[in-house]
Amino acid sequence: LRDGPSPFSAPPPSLRAQSYEPFAGGPTGLLAELTHRCPLQCPYCSNPIDLERANAELTAKEWGAVFQRAAAIGALQLHLSGGEPTVRKDLEEILAFAVDAGLYTNLITSGVTLTRARLEGLAELGLDHVQLSIQDVEPENADRISHYAGGFEKKRQVAEWTGELGMALTINAPMHRQNIAHLPQIIEFAVEAKAQRIEIAHIQYYAWALKNRAALIPTRETFLGTVEIVEEAKKRLKGVLNFDFVIHDHYASRPKACTGGWGRSIVVVTPSGKALPCHAAQTLPDLVFDDVRARDLADVWRNGSAFNAFRGTDWMQEPCRSCERREIDFGGCRCQAMAAIGDANATDPACHLSLAHEAFARLGETEAQTPAPAFIYRRMSAEASKETEPA
Ligand code: SF4
Ligand code: FES
Repeated sequence: LRDGPSPFSAPPPSLRAQSYEPFAGGPTGLLAELTHRCPLQCPYCSNPIDLERANAELTAKEWGAVFQRAAAIGALQLHLSGGEPTVRKDLEEILAFAVDAGLYTNLITSGVTLTRARLEGLAELGLDHVQLSIQDVEPENADRISHYAGGFEKKRQVAEWTGELGMALTINAPMHRQNIAHLPQIIEFAVEAKAQRIEIAHIQYYAWALKNRAALIPTRETFLGTVEIVEEAKKRLKGVLNFDFVIHDHYASRPKACTGGWGRSIVVVTPSGKALPCHAAQTLPDLVFDDVRARDLADVWRNGSAFNAFRGTDWMQEPCRSCERREIDFGGCRCQAMAAIGDANATDPACHLSLAHEAFARLGETEAQTPAPAFIYRRMSAEASKETEPA
């Protein structure tokens, strides 16, 4: 169902740092969570339950050192993410360090705090790509989902400015029962915005999204409807718009190779400098995450205990251990196995071979049929969002 390379797909063998074989070479991408601060309050936020405080964030110079190390071990792409990365007043300085490290730069943003002048400045510094998230194309519903007034109109402007300034644009549309009816219009919005790519991603249920699962899960029929809509649009818009479609796991029969396989292609660094193998890894028990200020990133990637916890296939139980797809999907998503069945070593319940698969699918159908409860919005406390002046 995917069309074209995902930013998280594995690099071609020729680009891998051979010195980091045998377990997959260096990472192809770095996801830099510059801050957990965000003006939006989305009910499916993928940041951890305990947000990191503003005064613990890495400085621009510290990020610069991380970028240099990531590039040295093979990273090609840098995703500047959050929270909302544009709330960092020193984003320009951070971007300059990224450009200096020779990384392809992607700004993952909700767009609501951007001005044309700031975006123009970022383009001049060398920003390559903007990934703009949208909640819906019906403004009132978009504002309700994000709990932020006037956001949609701002996003329309940011999409227009991105094209005018010569940067590539991806529209990112998280999909769930409260916007799923508007998928055709969302695709149309991406075409009108002259985006090169649209990512239509059914929500995954861990971290904050787990609290809102019953408000977000679509029915099997509406999910299958999105498969048809995307397949038709992919044919009709060939050469106009690329599609990256993340299916809904409760109604899948095979799991995804989450993040391209644990410890194989990406490194996530949190605002305070913890290196994670996936953005939700802190939902897993007993993992120890290294601090990039205290340990070299190359060493963390190669020898860090969290990166080796589920790398390769040795950790697997049956049915994954003897399955012919074990090096294709790597047993699916560890965070979903933990969230759904309480065992991070288990087969992802999205797999039809998992003993938990039937109950997992049934739970989705049951919750989707019940009236949606009110959203529990994501909020950061005023205290945690306070910035302190550098000494
Ligand atoms: Fe993938 Fe494991 Fe299912 Fe096999 S049993 S398809 S390796 S998740
Ligand atoms: Fe952590 Fe899938 S989100 S392994």
